[in-house]
Amino acid sequence: MDRETVTGCFSVIPISNSIFPAQGCQGRNGLYHIWRVPLSTVSIFPVTSVRKKITTLMFRQKKQRGEPVSMLTAYDYPTALALDQAGIDAILVGDSLGMVVLGYENTLPVTMEEMLHHSRAVARGAKSALLVGDMPFMSYQVSVEEAVRNAGRFLQNGGMDSVKLEGGRDRLNVIRAIVSAGIPVMGHLGLTPQSVHQLGGFRAQGKTAQTAKILLEDALLLEEAGVFSLVLESVPTQLAQYISGKLSIPTIGIGAGAGCDGQVLVTHDLLGMFDRFTPKFVRKYADLHSEMNRAFTDYIADVQTKQFPAPEHSILMNETEWLDFLQDVELEEKQIVR
Ligand code: KIV
Repeated sequence: MDRETVTGCFSVIPISNSIFPAQGCQGRNGLYHIWRVPLSTVSIFPVTSVRKKITTLMFRQKKQRGEPVSMLTAYDYPTALALDQAGIDAILVGDSLGMVVLGYENTLPVTMEEMLHHSRAVARGAKSALLVGDMPFMSYQVSVEEAVRNAGRFLQNGGMDSVKLEGGRDRLNVIRAIVSAGIPVMGHLGLTPQSVHQLGGFRAQGKTAQTAKILLEDALLLEEAGVFSLVLESVPTQLAQYISGKLSIPTIGIGAGAGCDGQVLVTHDLLGMFDRFTPKFVRKYADLHSEMNRAFTDYIADVQTKQFPAPEHSILMNETEWLDFLQDVELEEKQIVR
């Protein structure tokens, strides 16, 4: 069935003598589309309703309607699944992967192979959110041709819907070429972590009148080059709001205040899973690092004190089978001794 026409899904308890319960969805036309699935795959109803696939066009429409765009990062299947089920608009497979998952000092060592490996896992988990693959350092800087080829790999081999790349006026040729190959591009201005050495550290950008003007010019140039959306990272709130008002594409802020058209955070920061540092602009919605620590410590203690596994985690053999087994092996042992 066309996912776009689905408004609500259901499943029904099996009819007598049938191992195939009915399951289906109601279309916009009000008709129910019913199909049959094996009992083992059916959950207790109501089934979570199927969401429409989010597109780049819907990003723009959201901005026109004044509806904020929500985006978070994911690097694996279970996180992507949870984000998708929670109703996130977009998932970024960010090169922040390098720091929060792979333990690198910064994002510079991340390779195309690593990005594609994690992109595929995310694509398996998320079916509705718009998927954005972050082009890693040196995958788009060497030549336009290489940039287009690598962007294409995110869609062909990584299951992504679009790509993101960092930089302003110096990247216009690359962006135009990728867009004209039919690949949607998200821009990224302000604090661009791949230029951490050039910027002199992870510091806010556009804080002076002069640098703010350059940022605004870059944003306008990127829109003209065809980006469908623009990440603004660590820039002053007034500037981000001003730029957002000048663009018809949505801006997605991270440390750029509430005046952007959407927001993004690194999921590991939001969940409190990255313990090295927490940027000022992060709101922690959980403290999973401490929670993991507690769970691991409890597990180790349970193993050491033999509290785990308990009978409910264990498999028991049928008593008769067990006695037969003992009799058999003991008989064999006696024969060998003789
Ligand atoms: O890599 C990443 O996670 C990002 C976000 C911080 C926007 O680029």
